[in-house]
Amino acid sequence: MTERGQFATRLGAIAATVGSAVGLGNIWRFPYEAGQHGGAAFIAIYLLCVVIMGVPVIVAEFVIGRHTHKNVCGALRQLSPGGKSHWFSAVCITASILIISFYSVVCGWIVEYLIQAISGKLISAQDHNAEFEQFVADPYRSVLWTVLFLIANFLVLRRGLKNGIERVANVMMPLLFVLLMVFCVNSMLQPGAEKGLKFLFSPDFSAITPHVAIGAMGQAFFSLSLGLSCLLTYASYFKDSDSLVKNATVVAILDTLVAVLAGIMIFPIVFSYGMTPEAGPKLIFEVLPSIFQQMPGGYVLSILFFFLLFMASITSTISMSEISIAYFGEELRMSRSNASLLNTALAVVLGALCALSFGVLSEFKIFGMTLFELFDYVSSNVLLPLGGIFFSVLMGWVIDRRLVEDELSNHGKLKVKMARPIIFCLKYVAPISIVLVFLYGLGAFNWLL
Ligand code: TRP
Repeated sequence: MTERGQFATRLGAIAATVGSAVGLGNIWRFPYEAGQHGGAAFIAIYLLCVVIMGVPVIVAEFVIGRHTHKNVCGALRQLSPGGKSHWFSAVCITASILIISFYSVVCGWIVEYLIQAISGKLISAQDHNAEFEQFVADPYRSVLWTVLFLIANFLVLRRGLKNGIERVANVMMPLLFVLLMVFCVNSMLQPGAEKGLKFLFSPDFSAITPHVAIGAMGQAFFSLSLGLSCLLTYASYFKDSDSLVKNATVVAILDTLVAVLAGIMIFPIVFSYGMTPEAGPKLIFEVLPSIFQQMPGGYVLSILFFFLLFMASITSTISMSEISIAYFGEELRMSRSNASLLNTALAVVLGALCALSFGVLSEFKIFGMTLFELFDYVSSNVLLPLGGIFFSVLMGWVIDRRLVEDELSNHGKLKVKMARPIIFCLKYVAPISIVLVFLYGLGAFNWLL
């Protein structure tokens, strides 16, 4: 069995956890979701979801992980009444692999664009839309970059918790913040930047439909890495002296900050160069490169931009992988290398299938969705909120209240004012609102409208 490690420092633990949360969800998915769903109204619902569901569920995962110091399967076994394995751990492990599979396809695109940016090809391309369409449909190139990205991911994971995950996060997260600030300042200096800011910050509540509400909730869960025991697994490496509520708040604030900053980085330039923000998933690959082309310093900016995305994404994929790696190591007694290898092999096979769903497999549809869309939809909009209900009910109703209070207060050493509101949210607010948003999406309240 592998030695159970701990993050070396509290800052390292936070860097790694923020690294998990901050990813494509913030910089790629958030801007296009907000762009497609009317901007500020979407953001308002999103913020509400972060406060009433996000923070409480982060705390729930932290409590379970740090209390048991085990992988998700071991943790749920320890906490379930009969001491039996819990079916939900299988959901978490499977879902984590589905997420890495479609996520690493986009990471592969980022690597390709980073290299094109460095070689200067991106800046000199004629038609970015056509280039992108052609690239994603090319079976060799898209699979190749997905696999190469997963190999980079493997190399970090194999080095273990402190030398791999924590070290990478300690370097990349501060750098990511600095780069993001540079881009925000640059974006605000563009002529006509106010239009983009207005789009981001003035809400149009008539734009809120069931679809938008579900999208915002799914986005909050996805962006905070919630519901699939990713944060539970990281918290199992926290020290007993860390304050869980403080860590949870820091993670939620920084994650939300990065999402909003990403919006500030993207929308003003989109508007000031006369583009439309509704481009969807392709926004950063088709619209931004053509803007960099026209912008002074565009060559350097395009390299930095895709490098920023690369850092954001690899610190997230290592955290998704850690769910199954901790499981393989502790339950199946594999070495760290073999566990990382098995995780990578599964992700390579499914990731390649997702990569192909933009080309050769684009006609292969299940429920009208390609594999890439299906994995994204099922995991973000169904499994993550379900996991949210699971963890909030588990902590609010099942686990002994004394255990929860002991964990939150580090056995009485900390005074935690937020404990009661958080437990209240976990008992009532989070599960009920998640169920309501689901029902809303299924059309249960159409008679009211
Ligand atoms: N939060 C990450 C992002 O915003 C994605 C992510 C990492 C994730 N780990 C997760 C999503 C676990 C769901 C579950 O890009």
